[in-house]
Amino acid sequence: MPYAGETAHTKHSAQTGPRSTSPPTNAPAAINGIAKGANRMSPEEVHETVKRSGLRGRGGAGFPTGVKWSLVPRGKDAPHPKYLVANADEMEPGTFKDRLLLEGDPHQLIEGMIVAAYAVQADAAYIFLRWAYREAAVRLSKGDGRGLPGMAIWARTSWRSGYNLEMILHVSAGRYICGEETALLNALEGKRAKPRAKPPYPQTVGLWGKPTVVNNVETLCNVPHIVKHGPDWFQSLSRTEDAGTKLYGASGKVKRPGLWELPMGTTARELLEEHAGGCATGSSSGGRFPGALPPNSSPRRISICRWISTRSEKREAAWARGR
Ligand SMILES: Cc1cc2nc3c(=O)[nH]c(=O)nc-3n(C[C@H](O)[C@H](O)[C@H](O)COP(=O)(O)O)c2cc1C
Repeated sequence: MPYAGETAHTKHSAQTGPRSTSPPTNAPAAINGIAKGANRMSPEEVHETVKRSGLRGRGGAGFPTGVKWSLVPRGKDAPHPKYLVANADEMEPGTFKDRLLLEGDPHQLIEGMIVAAYAVQADAAYIFLRWAYREAAVRLSKGDGRGLPGMAIWARTSWRSGYNLEMILHVSAGRYICGEETALLNALEGKRAKPRAKPPYPQTVGLWGKPTVVNNVETLCNVPHIVKHGPDWFQSLSRTEDAGTKLYGASGKVKRPGLWELPMGTTARELLEEHAGGCATGSSSGGRFPGALPPNSSPRRISICRWISTRSEKREAAWARGR
């Protein structure tokens, strides 16, 4: 897979890529996030660090991660068990960013989950995995110290405060709606995957009625790096007030389909022109853009932003005409 830029979370996965069958060669590297940071911090310190970093959820809505964690009840009277769920359902057509992270560097996610679970004092953490991601399931289950079994044991023995976390891999039966967090919780409970009415939100009434944080895979993969390098470092990776980097993907009929870790604030034009090499002539765009490029035009010759605004002006005009 093409890979560009300064890196936080694809540093290790870039060496293997989603289609590779070889395991990551440098597994211990990401473990430093916990070893050098979180297990010497209190849960509140970890939480505050993530909050100050400005990390926003990478699952779609962009909700600030630290604020989401704040909504989980804490203290002696907090209900238990509390849960953390990594949303690895990824079924949006054309997306494969979480797949790269899951297959290329599974222990990075596990580490992020351990740190996040520690911050909210969760008792158990689930990975809700898209059924089709079989390679990810194999890698996450590996007993070689990099998958769930080894990492859970490692975390238990190295955590000074004696924090204990149960980690479970749940392979989804597979439906697009399962990616929506409350439908996902119903599916985990063995029910039909129908979204629940909100409020109450999962942070207070989630899995089996208990406080639950649902975070996207990419969101969680940022966490160990933030703890290791600090909030200022994370903010410095971005070009805008939204901190960090982001995995941007281009699939379909572009000249160079791929996935790139780039600063937040990277423009659609840069993504398509510089990284994806532009649309293949005469083909349609999909995924990121709400429509098709005009035939025989390529992003090298049109302004993407202008094109989007033209489309919405037309739509508004159509609505104004009562269509
Ligand atoms: C129909 C639908 C599908 C969704 N699919 C996913 C998904 O595959 N992965 C994901 O992380 N979030 C998905 N979401 C968003 C989740 O409901 C939730 O907001 C997200 O997992 C929270 O994680 P974050 O705060 O780290 O972004 C979906 C939402 C909807 C409405």
